[in-house]
Amino acid sequence: MGILDVKIVQDFIRTCNDGWLQGWHERNGGNLTYRMKEEEVKECRPFFQDDDTWTDMGVTGENLSGEFFLTTGSGKFFRNVILEPESSIGIVEINKAGNAWRIVWGLKGGAKPTSEFPSHFMNHSVRYEATNGACRVIYHAHTPNLIAMTYTLPLTSYDFTRALWKSATECPVVFPDGVGVVPWMVPGGADIALATSEVMKKFDAAVWAHHGLFCSGPDFDITFGLMHTIEKAAQIYNFVMSSGQGQIRQTITDANLRAIAKEFGVVLNEEFLE
Ligand code: 13P
Ligand code: ZN
Repeated sequence: MGILDVKIVQDFIRTCNDGWLQGWHERNGGNLTYRMKEEEVKECRPFFQDDDTWTDMGVTGENLSGEFFLTTGSGKFFRNVILEPESSIGIVEINKAGNAWRIVWGLKGGAKPTSEFPSHFMNHSVRYEATNGACRVIYHAHTPNLIAMTYTLPLTSYDFTRALWKSATECPVVFPDGVGVVPWMVPGGADIALATSEVMKKFDAAVWAHHGLFCSGPDFDITFGLMHTIEKAAQIYNFVMSSGQGQIRQTITDANLRAIAKEFGVVLNEEFLE
């Protein structure tokens, strides 16, 4: 048995491939990280290498000290993860101070964790707090319809949440807190990581203007499902806006939203209701 037979590694690879099949990962677009459970680290540990090169992240998450993350590699293509997992993905360990990583498996041939690792890491840190440790997955994808919406709607949580909630009936049940919005920023560093993690304190999804979407969740199904639901709602929004040339005849009303919440037992974020 090799590390590629370990269930969590297989699930990680499958999630990358599912995203590729959805058309969300042109070239090296998008990245995925997973905070491993203790028993999963134990299963993978026989395959770990001992490399003492620590790389500073430029951000600190003390609550993630000593954690292990599965991560996609920077510049790696999601399309290739299923074919070449050892060079496309890897496992990193976080140091005691919670501000540096070292590679313990994978990322063969000199590859590094995703350039968005600081954003993933800070999002893990705040979602860990927000969910009492339940959050394990952070997923970034270049979802085309949601990106398109960032050219036509005001870049506020209010406008995006309402537009998405009203684009498909089940949306308020899937993301009752709404979605956060981060204005356009240079990707790949500490600044966008800190701005995104501020938004992620309140939301489990954050839109990156003209770039894509970050989603978080306890497992791959829930996190992928959140990405899929938001992107599909965005697609419907764009279909409606383009086919109706900006005019809509009828929509889901705020009273309808409240009725859905009542029936499904979820509490909608009142900030986004009228
Ligand atoms: P990486 O290849 O470094 O993961 O970057 C892709 C991306 O989507 C940057 O936002
Ligand atoms: Zn990106």
